[in-house]
Amino acid sequence: MKVVPSPYIWFNGELIPWDEARVHVLSHVIHYGTGVFEGIRAYGSEQGTRVLGLDAHMRRLFRSASLLSLPMPFEFERLRSAVLETVRANEHEACYIRPFAFRGYGELGVDPSASPVDVVVATFPWGALLGEGSQQDGVATGVASWRRMAPDTHPSMAKASGNYINSALVVMEAKRHGYAEGIVLDVDGYVCEGSGENVFFVRDETLWTPPVGASILEGVTRGFVLQLAAEAGLPVREQRIPREMLYTSDEIFFSGTAAEITPVSSVDGQVVGAGSRGPMTTRLQEAFFEIVQGRTDDRFGWLTPVE
Ligand SMILES: Cc1ncc(COP(=O)(O)O)c(C=O)c1O
Repeated sequence: MKVVPSPYIWFNGELIPWDEARVHVLSHVIHYGTGVFEGIRAYGSEQGTRVLGLDAHMRRLFRSASLLSLPMPFEFERLRSAVLETVRANEHEACYIRPFAFRGYGELGVDPSASPVDVVVATFPWGALLGEGSQQDGVATGVASWRRMAPDTHPSMAKASGNYINSALVVMEAKRHGYAEGIVLDVDGYVCEGSGENVFFVRDETLWTPPVGASILEGVTRGFVLQLAAEAGLPVREQRIPREMLYTSDEIFFSGTAAEITPVSSVDGQVVGAGSRGPMTTRLQEAFFEIVQGRTDDRFGWLTPVE
């Protein structure tokens, strides 16, 4: 998805013109991936523009920073309001929001401790991640030959720039094979997630998903799906998922800020269930969009008004 410039980027405490938000080519993050970031969406509605999961995303950003021993130069509240300020300044009705904290310019050894930390917030318009119609028709996927980082190697619970080499390899391979997205297994061969989405399975009226600790990113949208499932009284099993479930489930869907809730229509050329969006996916997807688009109450407190 192409980045569409907006008027401003928040850079170390100030809104500056988009084209002036630059860093030096010898910034530490460019060489070693020493940054942490978030992907957040703001939705337009009759109630105005509202940011989805702002506090959960900001909490994850600070936890990611702490996993990388990256001292945040701004307090939680200051960065939280910087997100709202940037969306307001860019006058978006709906947009994608990218807060990013990284080791900047100054030192160039592997040890980042002496490099300064810079923080930016960028916002721009963004549609359906996996293509128009994907949320209705589902997407074709394939199991990646790359495995997800093993526990104790990269901190997969951190949304850290360097981790995304793994995701990039997974999605590039998937596209070479004609799939919209790849599904990556852990070192033991159990299902982890997509390159940028968590994954859910429906089998015998039960919702299954890999647990935190299965080398996944703890998705904010994953948390929303679990809340909706609990509200609907759907049994949920957070447990290791054998690869076989990719080929024997009634329904599979992805959750993520960018992908929202997207059905998986096939895995490795094998059709999932009836090959179209299944009833439980439809139900959870509708419940999700009703809330974020303001067609019903924000009963879980997911949304923060921008004004
Ligand atoms: C690797 C990975 N897993 C899962 C997710 C879904 O997380 P969230 O729902 O917080 O966007 C993302 C997207 O941020 C991701 O990059």
